[in-house]
This record gives sequence, C-alpha cells and structure tokens, in this order.
Amino acid sequence: MLITFEGIDGAGKSTQIRKLRKWLAEQEVEVLVLREPGGTATAEKIRDILLESRDNISPIGELLLFSASRAELVQKVILPALETGKTVILDRFFDSTTAYQGYGRGIDRRMLQTVIDLSVFSLRPDLTFYLDISPENAMLRKFSEKSLPIAFDDTELDRIERSGLDFFRRVRQGYLDIIKEEAERFVVLDALDKPQTLHKRIIESVSPHVPGKRNPSESSTGDGR
Ligand code: TYD
Repeated sequence: MLITFEGIDGAGKSTQIRKLRKWLAEQEVEVLVLREPGGTATAEKIRDILLESRDNISPIGELLLFSASRAELVQKVILPALETGKTVILDRFFDSTTAYQGYGRGIDRRMLQTVIDLSVFSLRPDLTFYLDISPENAMLRKFSEKSLPIAFDDTELDRIERSGLDFFRRVRQGYLDIIKEEAERFVVLDALDKPQTLHKRIIESVSPHVPGKRNPSESSTGDGR
C-alpha cells in the first residue's frame, strides 16, 4: 500500500507521518517512510540543488529535477518495497509537482503530466492525505515568534519557500482543484485541527486497508489495541 501526504509547506505533515508510522508499526505492519525529493544518494544530491541552490532555476529545470529525483526513488526504493509487501508512507509525490510546478510556476498541465507519467512508472497512491492550511497560517506556524509580513528572502527559508505568498496561494488552489478531479483518492484534513484529532481521522481512513483492522471503530483510539 502506498500512502502519500500533501500540503503546502508548514501544513504539519511530518507530525502526522510520525504518528501514523508508529501506529502502523503497532499493528505489525512493515512500514517504510520516505520523502520527496530525496531517498537515494543521487536523489539527495538533486534535493540539495533544488532546495539549497541560490541560483534562479527555471520552472522547466525545476520540474525535470523533481522528476529525476522521483524516478530514482520510485524505481530503486518504492517499487521494490511495495513488491515485498511493505506499506510505504511518502511525504509528497506527484501531486506536489502538479500543485507547485503546475499551479505555482505556471507550467502547462498537459506537458507536466507527460513528465509525471515518465517518472512514476504507473505508480499511484492508494490513499492521499491533504492537510489544508492558508499560506498565511502556514508561515505564521513556521515563524511562530514573528508576525506577518514575513520577509520571503529570510535565510531560514529554502529556495521554494522563498517563492512568496502569491505562489503559495496558487499552490493551495492547485491542490483544491486536483482533489475535485480525484476525490476518491483524497482525505482532506484541516491542518489547524489538533494533532491528535487529525491522527484519529487518519487512522480511521487507513484502518480498512490494514489486515485484521476492517472495522475503523476498533482502531480509533490510536493506542494500538
Ligand atoms: P521539504 O523541506 O521536504 O518541505 P516540506 O517539509 O514542506 O515537505 O521541501 C520540499 C519542497 O519542494 C517543498 O517546498 C515542496 C517542493 N516540491 C515541489 O515544488 N515539487 C515537487 O514535485 C516536490 C516533491 C516538492
């Protein structure tokens, strides 16, 4: 099973991924947690270029670099793990590309889809959790000690995060459009809900996919029983 997490930067994916990993391990499900971009030696180098470069990478260059990293990860790590029956939790997948490079950078959807198709080897997530948050709240969360407006050239931000509020507004709209197109794959969550509430909703959605956990109400306590 492939479970992906999506949302703009600062939505709180990492906390929920950590909790889900722990819960699945308690159910004796073999889990592998990965993030994009990255996950192989080559993909980590590409991640460095994408996030740490001070260069003004072109939108198409950016698309191809994210896709190169993805092709490496899918072929060398994710597909082999799924073949041995592992559950893979992936922090971002191709929906990020549609939202960030498509809606955010303005790359044509059809062209973008061709590149995505090339990089995923037909792999699709079984379930995608989208944590929804406004860019303003996401940035306030990241800089909880500061107040808006936040300087988008802040050195604490990576190259993508420095793209500005309008960019993140377009990315969020992108996610909302993608979800309408493929509603059955997505579980939409309000990122401002309490972490424990979000976790409960996540395990309710994952439970039916876990052998021996067909009834979600059995597992909604999240205490592993
Ligand atoms: P990361 O530090 O992993 O961010 P987060 O914790 O928010 O997931 O950085 C990944 C960044 O790359 C993030 O800003 C989203 C962006 N991104 C794209 O623009 N396109 C993509 O296809 C992927 C996978 C990520």
